[in-house]
Amino acid sequence: MKVIAKGINYYLTSDLDDEDFPTLMKHFGNKDMSKYNVFIPYPFTDKHAQNWINESKKHIGMYGQFATAAIRDEKDKLIGEIGYDFEHRNVAELSYWIAKPYWGGGIATAAVAKMCQIGFKKFKLRKIIAFVQASNTGSIKVLERNKFVQECRLSELVHGVFDAKMFGLTRAQYDG
Ligand SMILES: CC(C)(COP(=O)(O)OP(=O)(O)OC[C@H]1O[C@@H](n2cnc3c(N)ncnc32)[C@H](O)[C@@H]1OP(=O)(O)O)[C@@H](O)C(=O)NCCC(=O)NCCS
Repeated sequence: MKVIAKGINYYLTSDLDDEDFPTLMKHFGNKDMSKYNVFIPYPFTDKHAQNWINESKKHIGMYGQFATAAIRDEKDKLIGEIGYDFEHRNVAELSYWIAKPYWGGGIATAAVAKMCQIGFKKFKLRKIIAFVQASNTGSIKVLERNKFVQECRLSELVHGVFDAKMFGLTRAQYDG
């Protein structure tokens, strides 16, 4: 487990591992986690958890460098994840989740700031994008506090029912 970055009340490490299984089950057993994240099924089963951990490992292999980071507390306990999907070499989509007991503690805002720094400085990205369900006010605050700008609204994109918003942050906006 490689430490990528350290914040005040969290740190980012390279990946999930099999020891995260019970914690992942506990966090994703909460229905509120899947409400705004289409990739977290509810109910969340043992099989989902194992697939989630396997995918996290594959993701790293594909790029030869970390793409998804585990967010951990000072005792190494998994409390969230944040990662990039690379659209192509210069543009990546950012996504994240924080476990419910930690909501409102500023961790997502700080972790997004750190990942933007890594994205623009280390990965040399030119643009970072993020998709958010239109009613996800917490996540929208996280993005806007990191200078992301809403670029468009996408009707009925989530489950064919709920609107989504696309946010973007160019390198020039980040530096400005
Ligand atoms: C959205 C999410 C990542 C925010 O994480 P967080 O660590 O609580 O974020 P921060 O503490 O940096 O919060 C930013 C602001 O949003 C608010 N907020 C956080 N979660 C919220 C929620 N579920 N509903 C309403 N507001 C919320 C915080 O209180 C804070 O506002 P404040 O400073 O005015 O009090 C977290 O709630 C989460 O993982 N939700 C489920 C999955 C998800 O939505 N992922 C993002 C998909 S785009």
